[in-house]
Amino acid sequence: MTQHTTFDPNSDAEWEALRLLGHRMLDDLFDATRALPHTPAWRPMPSHKAALFEEAGPETGAGAEAVYEQFRQHVLPYGNGNWHPRFFGWVQGNGTPLAMLADLLASGMNPHLAGFNQAPAAVEQQVIRWLGEWMGMPGASGLFVTGGTMANVHGLACARMAMGERLGRNPRRDGVQHWPAQAGGDPVQPTQGPLVFYGSTETHSWARKAAEWLGLGDRAFVRVPTGADHRVDIGALQAQMAADRAAGLVPFAVVGTAGTVNAGAVDDLDALADVAASNGLWFHVDGAFGALLALSPRHRHLLHGMSRADSLAFDLHKWGSMPFECAVALVRDPAVHTAAFRSSAAYLGALPRGVSAGGQPFNDVGLDLTRGFKALKVWMQLKADGVHKFGALIEQNIEQVQRFAQRLDAHPEFERVGPSPLNVLCFRYLPAASSGNTSHEVHAEFVDEVNRELLMRVQERGVAVPSSTIADGRFVLRMAHVNHRTTDADMDAVFDALLEIGREVSAEFSVNRGQQAR
Ligand SMILES: Cc1ncc(COP(=O)(O)O)c(C=O)c1O
Repeated sequence: MTQHTTFDPNSDAEWEALRLLGHRMLDDLFDATRALPHTPAWRPMPSHKAALFEEAGPETGAGAEAVYEQFRQHVLPYGNGNWHPRFFGWVQGNGTPLAMLADLLASGMNPHLAGFNQAPAAVEQQVIRWLGEWMGMPGASGLFVTGGTMANVHGLACARMAMGERLGRNPRRDGVQHWPAQAGGDPVQPTQGPLVFYGSTETHSWARKAAEWLGLGDRAFVRVPTGADHRVDIGALQAQMAADRAAGLVPFAVVGTAGTVNAGAVDDLDALADVAASNGLWFHVDGAFGALLALSPRHRHLLHGMSRADSLAFDLHKWGSMPFECAVALVRDPAVHTAAFRSSAAYLGALPRGVSAGGQPFNDVGLDLTRGFKALKVWMQLKADGVHKFGALIEQNIEQVQRFAQRLDAHPEFERVGPSPLNVLCFRYLPAASSGNTSHEVHAEFVDEVNRELLMRVQERGVAVPSSTIADGRFVLRMAHVNHRTTDADMDAVFDALLEIGREVSAEFSVNRGQQAR
């Protein structure tokens, strides 16, 4: 008889060895997480480590112990730093120890979340119900997806399906193609202009991807200017829409953002909902991080109007602190949601009893058929800590950023750039040292160079990880704070380090410029 082959251990001894290894992995992760405040926020991967990732694919195995050792030495220390208390780059959450364990449970159990007659599907439905209620969309249909980009694309896909039908098209059958008339065939798609949707110039780049991916084309995303507060200019939106209609374009959706990437601004969602309603359009809200303000009693008023959205996208891996990947798409009208995605296949049919009796509720409202158990970590963290703690952490982040901003404002060597009403802050170091040239343009370039170098040094020295953006054509430092581990002392240490390194860089650069000028 040939020996049975499996990825499971083959004997009691092998099971025991893997169990012990698993316990060591957990211990190491707990130790690493607890030690984070005393470790660099980021460290570059030494070039000799790269050789490991050049190796050919293994034909035979080295064993779990050996590969874990490789992970421990060569992978674990060289992440991008987002689990660290002084990480503020882009908008990346930390993860939590409990959610890490929940992900282990989810992977260990490994249920298939197309739906089915099983408790994990009930967990996902329950969390979606809670979130719908907290977001002001009780009874909404929804599902977990990988990230904010996917959740937003999802909302826009629903918009195109629903509005296409309202406009006398059959988007599921015809797509965006113009089918020729066929004798005896289906009626031809009415000749109408191109579908377009609207959002502000501050809308995250998902909107461009969505327009392209849904076959509408980037031109279908009409960018509307913002005011000085970085919120969409409602008058400009209305004027643009009227001009587009006159030019034969067909508006189908309005996108609002709750929490823009560059300023953390929240569009006037109520006014956008009015514009959408009066024009008979779909209203989608990108609340990737900002929608979670709904969990904060102090700040939820900023979201006034969000509850009128037809669809809402938000992440839990940003301000919800869940490990990647974890985002939610909600659609107000469950029938519209299902109509946009349901498709039948003989092998997926449900029976009245047995495993398939639960049907495919998630497959019917999204693109993915095979889905993991993302909802478990959210369910466990919410049950363990309660939603109020999520709100309190959001308030803590905003307070820390506002205090940091006050320190910037009070210091002559820093300049705040743009509004920072919430947890996103753009600023630059203003070199006290001279650029060696009085021309405004040359000095501005000098300031850009100093800030670029300052950012790289702060990261490379492991002090902290802010990121950057471009504001009015100039390089600026940017902190987007969704970090539940950051203490007030961390914020102070980051401020002091930025000042010290900023002085160091500007002194070096001005000496260099002086020498070049000679
Ligand atoms: C406002 C906004 N929308 C969408 C996204 C995309 O989300 P994700 O990175 O989860 O795909 C982000 C990410 O930073 C964001 O800040």
